[in-house]
Amino acid sequence: LKSDWLGRIGAATDEAALEDLRVAALGKKGEISLKMRELGGMSAEERQVAGPALNALKDEVTTAIAAKKAALGDAALDERLRAEWLDVTLPARHRREGTIHPVSQVTEEVTAIFADMGFSVAEGPQIETDWYNFDALNIPGHHPARAEMDTFYTHRAPGDDRPPHVLRTHTSPVQIRYMEAHGAPVRIIAPGRVYRADYDQTHTPMFHQVEGLAIDRDISMANLKWVLEAFFTAYFGTSVKTRFRASHFPFTEPSAEVDIQCSFEGGTVKVGEGDDWLEVLGSGMVHPKVLQAAGVDPSEWQGFAFGMGIDRIAMLKYGIPDLRAFFESDLRWLRHYGFGA
Ligand code: PHE
Repeated sequence: LKSDWLGRIGAATDEAALEDLRVAALGKKGEISLKMRELGGMSAEERQVAGPALNALKDEVTTAIAAKKAALGDAALDERLRAEWLDVTLPARHRREGTIHPVSQVTEEVTAIFADMGFSVAEGPQIETDWYNFDALNIPGHHPARAEMDTFYTHRAPGDDRPPHVLRTHTSPVQIRYMEAHGAPVRIIAPGRVYRADYDQTHTPMFHQVEGLAIDRDISMANLKWVLEAFFTAYFGTSVKTRFRASHFPFTEPSAEVDIQCSFEGGTVKVGEGDDWLEVLGSGMVHPKVLQAAGVDPSEWQGFAFGMGIDRIAMLKYGIPDLRAFFESDLRWLRHYGFGA
């Protein structure tokens, strides 16, 4: 009987089978329990022999079941450890991440460089009134600059005679809004989107400019030239000469278009070397009428302003030949120029 039970316990393959065996041996109606109950019907002599034997059997079977149970538990744990094993040295699965668009990246670079020179960032609406976009900047209704700028106008309902709003054609209206709100002195840049009806390899109907404005009691063109050369040198990471060409803007007097030194040799533009010049911005001393329109007294305050194409200087720095690619959302292109991807 004993070897029979110990054999069956040894052969049990899981905890449920072992539990069945325990009930069959030691449960209320288990074989060993029934045998112990039979002791009562035995003679004293018989009981003296069978009693201790049965008790020993019961103990041995109980111990064997407990030992088997522990062994099965260990085996189950080993099995789980084996099945749930992870190789933490496997190379990670690649996940595509978004990247910062080149224009955003350059806007951040520009902002950081001017911040080092004490300029803070101002913003204005992209849908402007024609007062802020034109009149306050000394561009009256008949002025040819309005046509030159290929302005997008919004529609008014029939019978509504108010002048339409415009999509701002430059960031210069932020000059007016900022001076109106804060007065002088001023030291700001205003990066943002601007709109003109124009489309070819170097023009898109939406593009980006950064306006600069510095107003104080003794600001001059010399300060402008220094600030711009310091900016370009920091931005391109190499010393960059600038050339000022006399020009005309209704909102500055005198006005200058600014070129940066470069070489066009070998079909690529290299900034900061060579004998060629590339136009990158318009600038000048803020016109007294503009200060006046913004509520700043031109007999006390003066200063410079400039407006630079952000996309243009991004193309130059990163060797991007076609402006339109910036705004086509071609993922392959974005990944190629995806900074930090
Ligand atoms: N607003 C001008 C443009 O878009 C640039 C400019 C800004 C020129 C400030 C002079 C001063 O062309």
